[in-house]
Amino acid sequence: MRICFATNNEHKLTEVRALLPSTIELVSLQDIGCHEELPETQDTLSGNARQKAEYVWEHYHTSCFADDTGLEVDALDGAPGVYSARYAGPQRAAADNMAKLLQNLPPSTDRSARFRTVIALVLPDGEWQEFNGVVQGRIIEEVRGQAGFGYDPIFEPAGHHQTFAEMTPEQKNSLSHRGRAVAQLVAFLAGREG
Ligand code: IMP
Repeated sequence: MRICFATNNEHKLTEVRALLPSTIELVSLQDIGCHEELPETQDTLSGNARQKAEYVWEHYHTSCFADDTGLEVDALDGAPGVYSARYAGPQRAAADNMAKLLQNLPPSTDRSARFRTVIALVLPDGEWQEFNGVVQGRIIEEVRGQAGFGYDPIFEPAGHHQTFAEMTPEQKNSLSHRGRAVAQLVAFLAGREG
């Protein structure tokens, strides 16, 4: 089957493409001729994921899924959460977001955190499904690693001493919030194809 991943984030596209079986042809927004910013104005991950997928469904009439991800820090009562992208301002700069987060977490604070991803999927018959993926971990004291994107250089998944940015793409995918949500998506699509 052919399905569009409604994201303008090349890193996400690469991660997800690596997780899909060859029976699923993943196409990008560029491939379907969508060059706009997708709307993302809801106050929940689920609301945003659905809003992005709905936009593509309504304007391009193609099966698609979208994800939305938040980093929830316990000592900050779950912030930045759904506001993770714009935590340090509208420019959405990863370095600024990480600097602000580290500044807001003095060294002795509880550093437990989790990434949460919600994927919203819409199929040709208009059916909607949602998949969730969570990974527990901690925010380290300074950035480490070059791989990945976003908050990866300051997040160590539980049971590991490397940040996501110090892991190979395969390692990150095998542990990550998005990897877990995509595994459910794949299982659902496989079940449907019988
Ligand atoms: P969104 O899902 O693209 O809205 O992402 C929200 C924020 O979380 C952005 O700042 C992203 O860079 C960041 N983010 C999303 N996924 C990941 C990830 O897998 N690792 C690290 N940061 C991420």
